[in-house]
Amino acid sequence: MSSINVIGGGRLKGETKIQGSKNAALPIIAATVLNKGITILRNCPRILDVFHMINVLKELGCLATWEGNTLIMDTSNVTSTKVSESSVQKMRSSILFLGALLGRYHEVSIAYPGGCSIGNRPIDYHLDSIKKMNVNQEFLGEDKGIIHCNTDKIIGTDIFLKFPSVGATQNVILTAVLAKGVTRIFNAAREPEVMELCNFLMEAGARICGKGTSYIEIEGVGNLHDVEYTLSPDRIVAGTYMAAVAAAGGDVVLLDTPVGQIESVIKVLEKIGCKIKTSDEYIKICCNRKPLPYDMLKTQPYPGFPTDMQSQLMTVLSLSDGKSTIIEEIFESRYQNAYELKKMGAKITIEKAQKKAVISGVKHLEGAKVIAHDLRAGAALVIAGIAAQGATIVKEATSIERGYEDICRDLNNLGASVRYCSDNIQ
Ligand code: EPZ
Repeated sequence: MSSINVIGGGRLKGETKIQGSKNAALPIIAATVLNKGITILRNCPRILDVFHMINVLKELGCLATWEGNTLIMDTSNVTSTKVSESSVQKMRSSILFLGALLGRYHEVSIAYPGGCSIGNRPIDYHLDSIKKMNVNQEFLGEDKGIIHCNTDKIIGTDIFLKFPSVGATQNVILTAVLAKGVTRIFNAAREPEVMELCNFLMEAGARICGKGTSYIEIEGVGNLHDVEYTLSPDRIVAGTYMAAVAAAGGDVVLLDTPVGQIESVIKVLEKIGCKIKTSDEYIKICCNRKPLPYDMLKTQPYPGFPTDMQSQLMTVLSLSDGKSTIIEEIFESRYQNAYELKKMGAKITIEKAQKKAVISGVKHLEGAKVIAHDLRAGAALVIAGIAAQGATIVKEATSIERGYEDICRDLNNLGASVRYCSDNIQ
């Protein structure tokens, strides 16, 4: 298990480039099995979650090679429609192979993805929706932990999502692309990563309208064709590094930033005192004061404030000169990071029933040994370490590498002092 060592106290200065989007890459990698051919994915981040998805592709008989940040996938010879339990347990996004394999081969066996530190992560919206598309579902294995779906024909229909679930929207789209007839999704997720999956599929020949809105219509086609696609930059990685400036102070330029996708984050950071200038391709953020407190920061489905930025803002607000409140509306246990920040001197109380975190800003944080419970919480602890006095060790940092290609490289480009080290040399 690796750790990240952070020497605190430095203001940030300089520029760094934002990697390709993890949450756009994962569904697109699953989508490649809908086409029997070659997919070239440019600006693909070399992160653990992408490596896991590539392992699943190989398990299914596909080939995948890298040329720098370009991932070349050959899905001409899929030899299996079974996604192993170990693959799904390693990474729950493998569940997106459910819709893709079903869409192409009318059959799939895949284990139930487990929960994780931020919540149970059920997939009832995925299964209930796909069942309506003329798909049989059985639950096999002694603990009924294997989902087996099959059909002689997928039939498009109307799908009403109880909640605009990103994964459920993506799995329905993947199931519908080669179906007979039209599938209409009501209350679809509007996240940029859903839009990006639609962009990719449309370039491969799919017929989709309404991408990025809460109503998406997919007209089934006979087949898809080879495609070359360039991923957008990662909006959460960009937001993470902006939060680092807000916490530690500094004056930074982020290159290749998806400005239009992080308006809600920009608004919050401006409200707490950051000066932000944007152009089509970059963001300049400057912060030369303690952050102002923020009352009632609520996480919401897109275009609201993203839950994946909640931990990072908790770090920033723990240094503000007043009292802030955060309401986590999306996941039921995404406050674990508060207990790690408290080891660094933060003053945070969690009112679980109200899904509320109350943060009273402190003068400064003290370096400490802390644990990364999930990738965004881990990144938030690295930010806390940069802003803190003294040294911080973020343990179980492998979870950060699931989504950040090289957080040490990126933050050191901005003048931080952050390095990986293996646990046994602490
Ligand atoms: C995606 O997860 C992202 N992951 C998450 O990012 C992100 O936090 C989340 O969307 C919300 O934006 C990827 O894109 C790979 P949901 P997903 O389905 O699709 C409940 C990160 O840090 N729900 O929109 O799993 C669920 O429990 C990760 O990069 C059901 O109840 O999110 C949650 O409370 C973390 N039943 C809420 O909906 C279902 O069938 C939102 O989940 C599906 C979801």
